This record gives sequence, structure tokens and C-alpha cells, in this order.
Amino acid sequence: MNIESPAMPYNFADLEPAISRDTLVFHFLRHQRVCFDRMLAMVRGTELESLELTDLIRVTERNPAQHMLYRYAAEVYNHNLYWNSMRPRGGGPATGLAAELVRERFGTHERFVREFTDTASAHFGSGWLWLVWRGGTLEILTTSNAGTPLVRGDVPLLALDLWEHAYYLDHQNRRGAYVKTFLEELINWDTASRTLAELGNAEQQPRIAVRARAAAEPVARVGGGMP
Ligand SMILES: [Fe+2]
Repeated sequence: MNIESPAMPYNFADLEPAISRDTLVFHFLRHQRVCFDRMLAMVRGTELESLELTDLIRVTERNPAQHMLYRYAAEVYNHNLYWNSMRPRGGGPATGLAAELVRERFGTHERFVREFTDTASAHFGSGWLWLVWRGGTLEILTTSNAGTPLVRGDVPLLALDLWEHAYYLDHQNRRGAYVKTFLEELINWDTASRTLAELGNAEQQPRIAVRARAAAEPVARVGGGMP
């Protein structure tokens, strides 16, 4: 099996008080872990067993007969990115390479927050909120249920779980309070910047590579800003 068991990048209580220990224990063990175990049971002994997680998602999404397996695999991937989209004492405006691209796409942090918040509140039912790299720019979008933008060719940078199980113990049904807490106290911009830098290093995205070099040269940034 080429897919590693899910692991959280911090301890269950490390995000308190923004997210309670109970929420993370319940979320990790009763949701992601269950999806992982069910996925494992479905691929064990089959030719799918040798695939990486992202390839398993792409292959099963195209086959209606494997839709349940796609859901479990996508939920494992989505939660992996979600855990890494948060960190203790996170939150606030973008930093690093992500900051340059947020400024380019949204203008200000406040506009980014407004679009992120509005998109979350407009989404009906369970799903995910994403910051992705699409066609040379950042985009905010949602997917329903276990949907993942990986299968649309987007590069997921940050994920926010919009299922009620992610916030009900702490905020009951107040999704807006949960999204606000994520933005102000949890969001981990390092994860987005790291993925963007990898894209630039792989020269898949020359425009990012230019910004990565600029970010590495402090003198070049003095006086910089919106073009
Ligand atoms: Fe979840």
C-alpha cells in the first residue's frame, strides 16, 4: 500500500481554544480514520493498492462503479490538507509567496476575507472550501460532500472542512463563527506558500518562479506592491 496512515501535524489539544480537543479527536478518529480504513479494505488485494492517494482519487472519480471508494479516498486527502491548513497560533494575513499572490488576486486581505467568508456561507450543506491555484491565479471555490478540486486539474493550496462535524461541538450551527476563527486564529499560510514554491521549482508555473525569486531577495521587495 502506497498510502500512508493519516497523521495530524500537531497534538489534539494544540489548536485550543480555537478548536477544542474533543472536536479534533472526534473528527480525526471518527471521520478521517473511518474513511481511511474503509478505503483500505476496498483496495486491499486489488491493482489499485499500488496507487498513490492522488492517483487513486483521479482513477476512481472517472468510474461510477467506484464512487464510494472515490469518496473515501477523497475524504482522506481532503482532511490531510485541512489539518495542514491550520496551525497553533496561526491566522491573519497571508505571508511569504502566498502573500504576493493574494495581493495580486484580491488586492487586500480584507477583500480576500470577504470573498472567503461569503463563499463559505453561500455553500449549501456539507462540503469543502478551497483556495486553489487555477490557470495562473488564486481562486476560492467550494465542493460538495467529498468532492475535491484535484480532479478538475486545480492545485489545492488550503482546505476548510464545511461539514458540521468540523465545528458543531464548538460553534453548533454557526458556520460563520467557525470560518472567522479559522481566518483569524488558525489558517496556516506556510502550507500554501510551500505548494506554490514547489510548483515554481518544478517550473510548471514560471510566473510563480519569478515571484519565488523576488521573495527570496528582500531588496527587490522594497517599495513593491500592487502593480
Ligand atoms: Fe471532516
